[in-house]
Amino acid sequence: MSFKVQFHQPQKNQDIETKESLKSYLQDFLTNNPRKDIFSFKDSNQKLRKELTEKYKHKKHFIHVGMGGSALGPEFFIKALYPQNTNPHFLFFNNIDSDEIYAQLSSVNLNESLFYIVSKSGSTIETLSLLAIIDQELTSKFGKNYNKNDFFVFCTDPDKSFLKDLAQEWSVPCLEISPNIGGRYSTLTDVGLFPLNFIGKDQINSERVEVAKELEKDLNQVIDLAAELSFLYKKEAIDQTVLMPYSSLLKTFSLWFVQLWAESLGKTPKGKNPRGLTPIFAYGPTDQHSQVQLFMEGPRNKAIIFLEVSETQKQYKFESSIPHEKIKLINGKNLQNVLLAELSGSRDALIEREIPCFTLQVDQITSKEMIKLVLFCELLTISVAKLIEVDPFDQPGVELGKLLCLNYLKS
Ligand code: PA5
Repeated sequence: MSFKVQFHQPQKNQDIETKESLKSYLQDFLTNNPRKDIFSFKDSNQKLRKELTEKYKHKKHFIHVGMGGSALGPEFFIKALYPQNTNPHFLFFNNIDSDEIYAQLSSVNLNESLFYIVSKSGSTIETLSLLAIIDQELTSKFGKNYNKNDFFVFCTDPDKSFLKDLAQEWSVPCLEISPNIGGRYSTLTDVGLFPLNFIGKDQINSERVEVAKELEKDLNQVIDLAAELSFLYKKEAIDQTVLMPYSSLLKTFSLWFVQLWAESLGKTPKGKNPRGLTPIFAYGPTDQHSQVQLFMEGPRNKAIIFLEVSETQKQYKFESSIPHEKIKLINGKNLQNVLLAELSGSRDALIEREIPCFTLQVDQITSKEMIKLVLFCELLTISVAKLIEVDPFDQPGVELGKLLCLNYLKS
């Protein structure tokens, strides 16, 4: 496995002291902070996940229900590592749009469906609403005494959660999210491990430990990128971060990153000014026909992080007789060569305009490389948070909206 961070312009942040103090902060974080659980992966449920995989192996549809950090990570991993999505067939219920839910539920045979309900708090209104609708649908199909254990697995905080209590009442298996691990940092816990183990990706259980150790030994790439991004933010008002994978399979990775970056960094610490780096969802080459114009010529407030995947599993070689000069140019090459040339071309053009560009490079989409990406981005987020002085683990800004929503529902 190779994972590289490339800097394409001279690093502007040459402040060794900042980098050294970030290094000791991270080292201390990874050893002493209770949040180190994010990277230390205690796994008390490996056996239970195996048993559940066996118990429900006849299910043809795995329906993952959750919001934000309880869904985006697993969705990205499944879409990246299991693009054929056939048997089992995965669906993600991550919104409460009635028409979408109807379409999704109509597309499955309920008898052959397993609903994986994930909520750290166990009280998120969208997740509870979806659970209620699914329960109603099952009741109307199988009667009010239907066996819930045949259809549900829950995943929630083991200490304090309504979902935990409901699991007991309904005799439904319940997996866990450690109290020290917030939603958006929970991808590599039971939250994502159960669906991944369900498709036979058991190697993930040990790979995440190996990768975390590797990263811990070499924090320099994280530190350099975090120092540069926060320098650009503070000194040059570059307050937007574009993460642009050149891969359709990693589109959802971009969405996962948006949530991690936005919810972790956008804060107004008590008595201080509002701050944060705004993430922008993009993927290439598709966005070359959409947002790249803005990146090139719009406000100069963006840093672009490309995500390059060197090799695809499937190779399409051009041997075409279509009489166009562009086809003549690519004959003998393969489709991925075209994609990578587009990446290089766009990146060079942006660099020519002095737009800050960085590249995260992986060889292939493998479980190990995806784990590395996740852990790298989590550490990067925690590092930038430290440098811009915000708490990357809370999200107080969403509480008022939730409260006002409840007021609407009461009235
Ligand atoms: O990252 C977070 O903490 C949030 O995005 C949560 O994952 C999201 O709000 C869902 O919360 P819960 O898992 O408690 O249902």
